[in-house]
Amino acid sequence: MTKPVKTIVVIFGLVSIVIVGYNFFEKAKAENSLVLGEKVFKANCAGCHFNGLNAIKKDKPVIGSSKLASPGAFKAFLNNPPPPMPKYPNLTADAVQFGAIYTYLQTLKK
Ligand code: HEC
Repeated sequence: MTKPVKTIVVIFGLVSIVIVGYNFFEKAKAENSLVLGEKVFKANCAGCHFNGLNAIKKDKPVIGSSKLASPGAFKAFLNNPPPPMPKYPNLTADAVQFGAIYTYLQTLKK
C-alpha cells in the first residue's frame, strides 16, 4: 500500500471504532434511563399506580393518560396534580430523574 492509502485506511478504521463505540454508549444510556425511570416510578408512584393503573380513581390510570402527551404537560401536571395525588417538585426539578420516568412511562402498556 502507498502511504496516502494507508493513512486513509487507518483514518477510516478509527472513525468506525468511534461510531460503533458511540452507538454502544448511547444504547447503554437509553437502557440505564429506563432502569432509573422504573426505580423512580416504583419508589414514588407505584403505591397508587401499580402497573400504571390507579388504585384510588380507577378511571384515571397513568397508562394512556393525556397528561403524558409531552414532557412539558407531564411536568406541569406533576407540579400541581389534583389531590390526593401529592405534588412532585423535587422530581420535576431533577432533569435526569424526570427524563427517566417520562421515558419509562412511555413504555407502559395495558
Ligand atoms: C397517593 C396516591 C398517588 C400517588 C403516590 C401518585 N398518584 Fe398519580 N394520581 C392519583 C390520583 C388519585 C389521580 C387522579 C387525580 C384526579 O384527576 O382526580 C392521579 C392521576 C395521575 C395521572 C393522570 C391520569 C389522568 O389521565 O387523569 C398521572 C399521569 C399520574 N397520576 C402519574 C403519577 C406519577 C408519575 C406519580 C409518581 C411520581 C404519581 N402519579 C403518584 C394518585 C396518586
